[in-house]
Amino acid sequence: ALVTLRQLLDHAAEHDYGVPAFNINNMEQGLAVLEAASSVDAPVIIQASRGARSYANDIMLAKMIEALIAMYPDIPIVMHQDHGNSEATCASAIRFGFSSVMMDGSLKADGKTPADYQYNVDVTRRVVDLAHWVGASVEGELGVLGSLETGEGEKEDGHGAEGKLSHDQLLTDPAQAEDFVARTKVDALAIAMGTSHGAYKFSRKPDGAILAMNVIEQIHQRLPNTHLVMHGSSSVPQDLQDAFNAAGGEMPQTWGVPVEEIQRGIKFGVRKINIDTDCRIAMTAAIRATLGKNKGEFDPRKYLKPAQEAMVKVCRQRYEEFGTAGQA
Ligand code: G3H
Ligand code: 13P
Ligand code: NA
Ligand code: ZN
Repeated sequence: ALVTLRQLLDHAAEHDYGVPAFNINNMEQGLAVLEAASSVDAPVIIQASRGARSYANDIMLAKMIEALIAMYPDIPIVMHQDHGNSEATCASAIRFGFSSVMMDGSLKADGKTPADYQYNVDVTRRVVDLAHWVGASVEGELGVLGSLETGEGEKEDGHGAEGKLSHDQLLTDPAQAEDFVARTKVDALAIAMGTSHGAYKFSRKPDGAILAMNVIEQIHQRLPNTHLVMHGSSSVPQDLQDAFNAAGGEMPQTWGVPVEEIQRGIKFGVRKINIDTDCRIAMTAAIRATLGKNKGEFDPRKYLKPAQEAMVKVCRQRYEEFGTAGQA
């Protein structure tokens, strides 16, 4: 059944678990998430970025979610807009049946320019008003994702803040977080503590200097009842990098967010953990491996099925690691 983010995260808080939020763009990814969830009895957050919505088409996405709900009637499913950039994006998501939206007012509507605090409060508050009128949930974001190692915003995939950011911008201020939640009434708050989107988060295994999990603890102390969200939370595990490269891919050595750090976050109020990159790498490694072995193959099902299975494995693993398994 379709549920709101608020409903699911309230349950997660009550029972001390986290929920991975997986990005989808197509049928195989949607099927993978639900196949994994139903195999371990986990509730689901599926999210679609603006890019996903234009790739798949809103009608196609909405009908796909309807299909997944019908196929898995016992699994609670949140359909969430990832990184909404404006009131219009959030409103149209709700109109297409999303039960939750992210208004990312940490950036201006162009999705690149860091916004000032007042802009973020105002636009987020307006989205909360409209979403709550119609029974949808809202995730806000305070602080800009980017690297504490280099001070840079996001680069390689062309979305997120551009250019150099100050240390202040890259770490959510706990006192400001308290004020932000009080003013906006968001259902969940995404925070910045050194993660970034994509595969290239850290040039070494992260420690407290480049992944500031202590910021989460400080925010949780001030906001014990607020559901926290970690973006950029793919772990980019070594075995996926190795599988990708063994199949002919070329991915330079990189580090993601270690699962044990996420598990620590879950002890301090992190309830939603955004994961896209791990699924992308797993699927593409499987496609490369399949096509590398069978150079004459041209039936898309022959490589999309293994890709889907590789994503199922990643999703099932996170459901188990975050304590989501058994909570549906
Ligand atoms: O926000 C980042 C997610 O990985 C979605 O990425 O905008 O390429 O669909 P996307
Ligand atoms: P990753 O790129 O680490 O998977 O993060 C995804 C994300 O934060 C989507 O909003
Ligand atoms: Na999100
Ligand atoms: Zn994100």
